[in-house]
Amino acid sequence: MRVVDIINKKKKGEALTKEEIEFFVQGYVKGEVPDYQISALYMAIYFQGMNDEEIADLTMAYVNSGETIDLSGIAGIKVDKHSTGGVGDKISLIVIPLVASLGIPVAKMSGRGLGHTGGTIDKLEAIPGFRTALSAEEFIANVNNHGMAVVGQTANLTPADKLTYALRDVTGTVDSIPLIASSIMSKKIASGADAIVLDVKVGSGAFMKSLAEAKKLAECMVQIGKSLKRRTIAIITDMNQPLGHEVGNANEIREVIDVLRGKGAEDETGIALTIASYMAIASGGYHDFRSTYEELQQVISSGKAIEKLEELISSQGGNPQVVHDLFQLPQAEYHIEIFSNQAGYIRAIDAEQIGLAAMLLGAGRKKKDDAIDYAAGVTLLKKVGDYVDLNEPLCILHTNLDHVETDILKAYAFQESVPNVTATIHEVVS
Ligand code: URA
Repeated sequence: MRVVDIINKKKKGEALTKEEIEFFVQGYVKGEVPDYQISALYMAIYFQGMNDEEIADLTMAYVNSGETIDLSGIAGIKVDKHSTGGVGDKISLIVIPLVASLGIPVAKMSGRGLGHTGGTIDKLEAIPGFRTALSAEEFIANVNNHGMAVVGQTANLTPADKLTYALRDVTGTVDSIPLIASSIMSKKIASGADAIVLDVKVGSGAFMKSLAEAKKLAECMVQIGKSLKRRTIAIITDMNQPLGHEVGNANEIREVIDVLRGKGAEDETGIALTIASYMAIASGGYHDFRSTYEELQQVISSGKAIEKLEELISSQGGNPQVVHDLFQLPQAEYHIEIFSNQAGYIRAIDAEQIGLAAMLLGAGRKKKDDAIDYAAGVTLLKKVGDYVDLNEPLCILHTNLDHVETDILKAYAFQESVPNVTATIHEVVS
């Protein structure tokens, strides 16, 4: 078999066999197939797509490229959650302590930032000392002892996804339904979750720009989950503007702390409570959405949620003091205010442009091996629907770069009348 023949086959829109898929996945992980062939093949997949069988085969080829975690040593239904990626998307960090506070084990495997979107692992690593490279034994022990753990993708778990994920990030092949679905579902299956809740983002800051595409991705992942006997629920949520007010790493951790203290922005608190409620329902112990949502609101107002975040941080070697003293988190040297060049109501804030601006300030990677500046990011002072005067501050850029050229104002669109603000939760697919 030759990879060039597989590329040509996909280029013509033909379906690949299980053997062909296993061949290029294994070859790539062993270092026998070069980056440029996988890049060409993934671009062909981007344009030609894959059928359900190919997507399931690609998912399992990723799973079988490394070790899998057996979570049978943890009692109960283990729930995991994954987002398809957004800007300012810190929902995982909010729902882990929330759901664990209900006594439901959360075994979470997370990724790094991709393209203009952030990643949970990068955000957690902004907390001094926080270890995301846990061994399988540590991961299981933490879930048993604390009811929650977050692990980065170790070299041994779905290495094929880890390698292709970084390659896709720099070759324009991220926003492809088969590639996203197999990437996400392989990680969830390899990390041993019994139940999976997916946050499928849609809008300007998401990989899926239209509701129809987001629905296709949601249905595709729910289908993979079902075929592998994992309870899977997908919630389609809005990403037409960044979530909350903070985009970056350390500054997003600050916002997570606010939400868990009950002082969060309405949009992200609502999405977090919805996702957490579906995680509780997927675990089998909860049945009614409304009463679960209310119980989780209580978890926040009683102070239990923030205590659980503190426990998560210390259980993985991080400095729990960050919860009480935000100055223990990395701080940028420069804070640059950006002023509005017109007066009016904000009609839209292009989340992708804000994500790209945050990346250029140092919060994300331009190339796959770039280091991250945890202190860099953007604080949005105004959101869609807010009125701003000419020369009023719209946002603050945080950076350690002494020279910044930005066209972040292009992300904002204004109008004279009060705009319609789109719903934050669009649909639930199960
Ligand atoms: N998140 C993932 O884990 N994989 C993707 O391909 C996109 C978002």
